[in-house]
Amino acid sequence: MNRIAIYPGSFDPVTHGHLDIVRRAAGIFDSVIVAVTDPGGKKTLFPLRERVELFGKAVRGWPRVSVQSFKGLLVDYATEKKACAIVRGLRAVSDFEYEFQMALMNRHLSKRRGSSLETVYMMPDESYTYLSSSLVKEVARLKGDIDHFVPPAVCTALKKYIK
Ligand code: COA
Repeated sequence: MNRIAIYPGSFDPVTHGHLDIVRRAAGIFDSVIVAVTDPGGKKTLFPLRERVELFGKAVRGWPRVSVQSFKGLLVDYATEKKACAIVRGLRAVSDFEYEFQMALMNRHLSKRRGSSLETVYMMPDESYTYLSSSLVKEVARLKGDIDHFVPPAVCTALKKYIK
């Protein structure tokens, strides 16, 4: 059986924390699809196409990992891709409430569609627990050092945007 996992997010932009989760997921599932989408109600710094490109560059050559974009409901996309699980990262207790709501909503929606989609949570390496895309953008905007937090292509792109 081919066990496909979807790792969804807005990834504006991808950080080493996100990559850490993909690496862990790829060690458990047969394949991982990183699914980039627009966050509901939030404006992004990078357009969708560029967020996909930057994530794609960061995982180039990683076996069984692909990067795509999607619009609409995550459960519909996951069903179309024949995925058995959604993977999400849990950094701290503060992530829990939002994640809990999303997991139960997705379970409800997938049940209504006659499929069963589980959400699997993974903890990133502890050195990434305080990392978020917003913080990285803020530090970059204030000319702080972000090399440690994001892949090189993201570093370059952020510097260009912030100029
Ligand atoms: N390391 C570092 N940072 C991480 C992280 C990790 N392992 N995991 C999450 N984050 C950060 C992100 O950088 C982001 O930070 P920011 O808020 O400062 O930008 C934040 O946590 C959340 O980002 P992300 O993981 O991209 O999730 P999201 O909240 O943007 O994505 C979707 C939510 C896209 C999964 C959800 O909105 C969705 O499924 N949308 C599709 C429509 C749908 O089906 N809606 C119903 C859902 S029930």
